[in-house]
Amino acid sequence: MRTPSVFACASAALVLVAGALTQRSASQTAAPNWPQLTTELRPAESFAGISDTQIRSIAVFEEAGKVLQHPRCMNCHPAGERPRQTDQRRLHQPLVVRGKDGHGAPGMACATCHGGANFDPSRVPGNPHWALAPASMAWEGKTLGEICVQLKDPRRNGGRDMAAILKHVTSDSLVLWAWEPGAGRAPAPGSNAQFGKQLAAWVETGAHSPKR
Ligand code: HEC
Ligand code: HEC
Repeated sequence: MRTPSVFACASAALVLVAGALTQRSASQTAAPNWPQLTTELRPAESFAGISDTQIRSIAVFEEAGKVLQHPRCMNCHPAGERPRQTDQRRLHQPLVVRGKDGHGAPGMACATCHGGANFDPSRVPGNPHWALAPASMAWEGKTLGEICVQLKDPRRNGGRDMAAILKHVTSDSLVLWAWEPGAGRAPAPGSNAQFGKQLAAWVETGAHSPKR
């Protein structure tokens, strides 16, 4: 009599686990521009064999998209007023909002909790400039092609030309944080230097945007 009930228990547990998995993958597929986490980046030079410059430009940008659409960047470039957290990109808890200048609402400023550096014992990431990107720089919910067009648009990218964009992505301390995000958080794929070379190669080949 014991064996069947153990089986019943085990299969009930399996059903529960399967249910949880289905739910999880459903919530992950809900947003089409949330790709799987990757750790590697193809070096910019490895695209040199593509002779058509427009196709090469798009291919190398799509590779750089693994960084742009990684949770380390996307959590701070959300569609709404709230940042997201963790590799699962859940809405920030507790509830905080962008506020007037990206540093949070009065009384709930980012700096209340986010210090000048990562604080690993309580998993709080930190940086002296910690803030949410302005709404015009939101990437969440957009296709990589849409993000690309927006990135090139001075009316939405903070008035930057391409040289200023390249400088920002290789020197801004919030961008660099994505490769040193503190304990329990996956760093952005590859290295910042590789990412910088990819975007430089994209600009050199005409900064073309993916069609979708
Ligand atoms: C802690 C929050 C935070 C993180 C993490 C972050 N950003 Fe940003 N990002 C900002 C803020 C704030 C601005 C606006 C600052 C400015 O314009 O100088 C910004 C602006 C930008 C801009 C310029 C405007 C635009 O959107 O075209 C680029 C490019 C950018 N971020 C890229 C990245 C990349 C790439 C990553 C990940 C490797 C990243 N950011 C991670 C907060 C963040
Ligand atoms: C009351 C404390 C508190 C305040 C205020 C706060 N945060 Fe956070 N934040 C946290 C904690 C704690 C975590 C780490 C959660 C985790 O990873 O488990 C976190 C994580 C994050 C992350 C996730 C980083 C990643 O990629 O995993 C982002 C982005 C973020 N906060 C942005 C902000 C912004 C922007 C503000 C201001 C508008 C802000 N936070 C205000 C406590 C706070």
